[in-house]
Amino acid sequence: MDTTTVASEKGGIGKTTVTVGIARELAGRGVKVGVVDLDPRATVTTWLDVEVPPGEHVGAILGQDDVAGAAADLALTSPWHSGIDVVPGSRDVAALEGSPQEYGDLRLRRAIAGWDRDVVLIDSPNRQGGLLIRSALTASDRVLYATTPDEDGRSGVEWARRNTARFKQLSPLNPDVAEVGIILTRWPDTIPTRDAVNALEALEEDNAGPTPNDPAAGPALPVLRPLVPERVAVRSARAARVWWGDYTRGELVAAAFRDIVDQVWPMHRSSEGETR
Ligand SMILES: Nc1ncnc2c1ncn2[C@@H]1O[C@H](COP(=O)(O)OP(=O)(O)OP(=O)(O)O)[C@@H](O)[C@H]1O
Ligand SMILES: [Mg+2]
Repeated sequence: MDTTTVASEKGGIGKTTVTVGIARELAGRGVKVGVVDLDPRATVTTWLDVEVPPGEHVGAILGQDDVAGAAADLALTSPWHSGIDVVPGSRDVAALEGSPQEYGDLRLRRAIAGWDRDVVLIDSPNRQGGLLIRSALTASDRVLYATTPDEDGRSGVEWARRNTARFKQLSPLNPDVAEVGIILTRWPDTIPTRDAVNALEALEEDNAGPTPNDPAAGPALPVLRPLVPERVAVRSARAARVWWGDYTRGELVAAAFRDIVDQVWPMHRSSEGETR
């Protein structure tokens, strides 16, 4: 099992879209995917269109110690495609952020251990440093950052990377969690605006690694290609709670995720014709 957290310190910059795009692409390849919704806004749960029985959400993992096997017990299958199982999120988990939870950070990791999934994706909250993101990082092999081509997205990556660095430095639970790259979504799909180009340049400069001018910068991290194009079909699909690949105009976005999944999950690389 390979577990990846999708992170940013800012809201509305594409974390959930990235989680959904990757989950659906992998499921289309026959990979068994688990999605854990750690965002108190529970958007990925809504988008994947699962019906959550009262109280049966990720809060049941984070709030108690007896969690062995809990992810499999709580998971619901998305009607989108066979192979996407979701541990749903809930507003209730926001209340857990502040409470002193002894060993709380370990519960999610323990709850997903043994879950019959090839790949687990964790959609994380914007808030950094708290129990939720610590639980995600403790449970993950890798972190992917999501961003849009603007200042908000750029600083969201910056502050999330600072949090990951701090986690790796201070937490004995999972110091080897690896940063994989930055996925940029909502790239203007016709002629890129000057703002978008500037934001991309700044993002690449921020993440170029230590330089003589900035010796304390974090390790170099790539902005993955292709950039995910902005398409209205993504928003329409979300409103309709379906996958954008079902719309002709969403195909470009689906193709971008296909390429990204090939790079980040090479063990599940698609062979020609397999994904449709
Ligand atoms: N490639 C795209 N084309 C068009 N719209 C997009 C694309 N990617 C993301 N969006 C839209 O941008 C908005 C923010 O995306 P998303 O919800 O994935 O961000 P988020 O970081 O998860 O936000 P939140 O803080 O609410 O969890 C959504 O309305 C989404 O539909
Ligand atoms: Mg989200």
